[in-house]
Amino acid sequence: MSSGNQDTVLAVKDLRTHLFTKMGVVKAVDGVTFDLKRGETLGIVGESGSGKSMTAMSLFRLLPSGGRTVSGSVNLEGEELLTKSESEMRQIRGRRMSMILQDPQSSLDPVFTVGTQLMEALRIQEPAPRKELRKRAVDILRSVNVADPERRVDNYPHQMSGGMKQRVVGGIAISGQPTVLVADEPTTALDVTIQSQYMELLNEIKEATNLSIIFITHDMGIVASMCDRVMVMYSGRIVESGSVREIFNNPQHPYTKALMASVPTIDRKTERLFSIEGTPPPLWDLPTGCRFAPRCPVAMDRCMGEYPPTVSLVAPDGVAHEAACWLAGDADHE
Ligand SMILES: Nc1ncnc2c1ncn2[C@@H]1O[C@H](COP(=O)(O)OP(=O)(O)OP(=O)(O)O)[C@@H](O)[C@H]1O
Ligand SMILES: [Mg+2]
Repeated sequence: MSSGNQDTVLAVKDLRTHLFTKMGVVKAVDGVTFDLKRGETLGIVGESGSGKSMTAMSLFRLLPSGGRTVSGSVNLEGEELLTKSESEMRQIRGRRMSMILQDPQSSLDPVFTVGTQLMEALRIQEPAPRKELRKRAVDILRSVNVADPERRVDNYPHQMSGGMKQRVVGGIAISGQPTVLVADEPTTALDVTIQSQYMELLNEIKEATNLSIIFITHDMGIVASMCDRVMVMYSGRIVESGSVREIFNNPQHPYTKALMASVPTIDRKTERLFSIEGTPPPLWDLPTGCRFAPRCPVAMDRCMGEYPPTVSLVAPDGVAHEAACWLAGDADHE
């Protein structure tokens, strides 16, 4: 589906976002490069703390205190975002690039009706008479398949089911007709029903629009059902990327292989998703070589000393498949 020359909407190059803390410089995002094509759903996977959310927040330029993007480029449809002013960024967030959170509770205000909240989102994007905004709010509820939208628009969040609230949040996220939608799945386990409704909603949004979606998750099963392409993150870097089919059928990086072998647990709060011993290195004291080497079952001396180059593999589906490992493909690195 996504081949080389397809329309790129977002190009991220060598992005580095560091957190300046008492402990030292936490290299949360440390040289991340990727492209997102129009209409594509790109998954980002990797265990907790690998830098997935920080990568997403860097795109929006919404960083926690102490956080700073120290270098790189984030190009949205030909425009560099990293040099934009805060007021210019406010024109972009929620309009051209928007974020959807899985937990509707944290996105909706309990004291206002969903209609008021939708109308406010619409008004910020483009001021219009109240009546017109209300009509558009109803249209948006209809577009995300909320039944009886004329009535539901006057509901308070507590009068709606979890799934319906999710749809409202989805409606707000796409109300500005964004080019890019970032969906960041939380680590904490949510109700399975809510989760499947969320997936359904995202799939509907994906089908109805030509949106490009960045989907952040821990769960390879979700990647398989949602994404066209996937990037695997480890310790602030992308260690492998390719089409979902390639990553599942022909993983090259030992970390990706471990991810594939991992068994999702019922309680996703526990980090027993990974069948690999040990933990990632501290982000303020990274090894010079491969960051996975200390845990890697096939590590060689070289892996400890030198960070591996990115190897391009020949994928049968023609989608770029790359892995940063000395052992990837048949490449001879001498
Ligand atoms: N507000 C913060 N202050 C200091 N360090 C932070 C802050 N937020 C995140 N970090 C650190 O940045 C690193 C990357 O965090 P990030 O939230 O991007 O991970 P993640 O891949 O999204 O993890 P998860 O799957 O748990 O959501 C982690 O080591 C984390 O401890
Ligand atoms: Mg996160």
